[in-house]
Amino acid sequence: MYKYKVSILGTGFIGLCSAVCFADKDIKVIASTHNEKKAAQINESIAPFYEEGLQEILDRLKTANLNIFQCITNPVKAVLETDISMITQGTPMREDKSIDLSYIESTAREIGEALKKKDNYHLVVVRSTVVPGTTRGLVAKIITEISGKEPGKDFGLCMQPEFLAEGRSIEDTLHPDRIVIGQFDEKSGSMLQEFYEYFYGIHLKNCPILRMNIESAELVKYGNNCLLSTKISYANEFANLAQLVPNVDIVEVMKGVGLDYRISPRFLGAGVGFGGSCFHKDVNAIKAWSKSKGYNARLLEAVLDINDDQAIKIVDIAEELVGTLKGKKVSLLGLAFKPGTDDMREAASIRVVNELLKRGVKKISGFDPKALGTAQAELGDKIEYAKSVEEVLRDSDCALLITEWDEFGNLTPEDFKNHMKTPNLVDGRRLYDYNKFNRELSFRTIGRISL
Ligand code: UGA
Repeated sequence: MYKYKVSILGTGFIGLCSAVCFADKDIKVIASTHNEKKAAQINESIAPFYEEGLQEILDRLKTANLNIFQCITNPVKAVLETDISMITQGTPMREDKSIDLSYIESTAREIGEALKKKDNYHLVVVRSTVVPGTTRGLVAKIITEISGKEPGKDFGLCMQPEFLAEGRSIEDTLHPDRIVIGQFDEKSGSMLQEFYEYFYGIHLKNCPILRMNIESAELVKYGNNCLLSTKISYANEFANLAQLVPNVDIVEVMKGVGLDYRISPRFLGAGVGFGGSCFHKDVNAIKAWSKSKGYNARLLEAVLDINDDQAIKIVDIAEELVGTLKGKKVSLLGLAFKPGTDDMREAASIRVVNELLKRGVKKISGFDPKALGTAQAELGDKIEYAKSVEEVLRDSDCALLITEWDEFGNLTPEDFKNHMKTPNLVDGRRLYDYNKFNRELSFRTIGRISL
């Protein structure tokens, strides 16, 4: 009945968003997770995390009620009942900052168990971010050892990096700017390309499909995330240069730089630095991988150092404004690693909190429109949690804007004056109109000296 039956092994952002988008376009999808509670939630059409558009698609699939999408806790069964399996497991950072491939390994084992029992050709696609050599040297090897089947003969093998950004996962899945297919052999690559031609139909018209070998595809993903991180650290380095002289404004400088058609203005936003589950983890992973091969990735080292230092910078700027922060109350506007998510992983707010504590502040109060629960799990009693802007600013000596939520953008100098003990504001994301705020408030920002 269905032209394609796909199993998605791993139900995080990439896995679940891909799964529902495929099912929404008439592809039979069996997702698999070992988390029973999560599987039950998904089967009840409740999104297990917030991601724009996800709940709507789950609702639509529920209404259609065609049994086109289900989530089970048995990966072997999921593989056996489908023709293509996509590995979408997380590849977190180990304590030593190298990549943790344990979820990939166990999933490869499960695929091996399934393929041992399967006679038909099956395509295995690694979508997780993995260091070069993993798909061939670990995934294929384990599947072969367990199933006795050979890649390129009994099963196909591809590595297809994903480029979804949190908060845009559905949009990015539906409108990719390119599809990169690392193929073990021609047949595997063609099978995956045909699948995407079917899924996207005419929408694929302006989207190049790049076919290459598996290891190059693995490195493309790191190439992307490392370059985006480098752009941010570059903008932050220049923000620090801008602070050496009066009258220079980093926002104008980066606008001027970014309009060069070879560069693009995106990801040149200076601020308190990047966070999230990807940039930090991936830059560290490829740096550790390259070190293990005898190459010292100095540029990437600098990218991470500059990023970590931005948290110190914003606290330095606050002390220039207020004097010592020792014994003072500081308010944090925004805690999540970026607006539109409750994700706190590697958020700049964590580094800022640690720096403030080092400097002996008396009290830190934080407010975030979505991330209060996750922030509490991450930061515990290091800070107090306010339920509104008004509450977070109350009795405060200095406010730091950490995450550029829209609702913070609507605040005026009056709001800070009305609610704070001493209205001092440091804009860590260049959210506010510099001239207005500098005129009406005791104000500082990243990348511009206040005169
Ligand atoms: C990132 C990439 O953008 C995706 O293409 C990639 O697929 C994903 O990682 C991944 O590897 O899975 P994500 O981490 O969700 O996506 O978020 P981004 O929107 O890229 O933002 C990352 C961080 O950079 C945020 O903390 C943001 O505040 C910061 N940032 C971004 C800046 O500091 N300045 C900028 O100009 C842009």
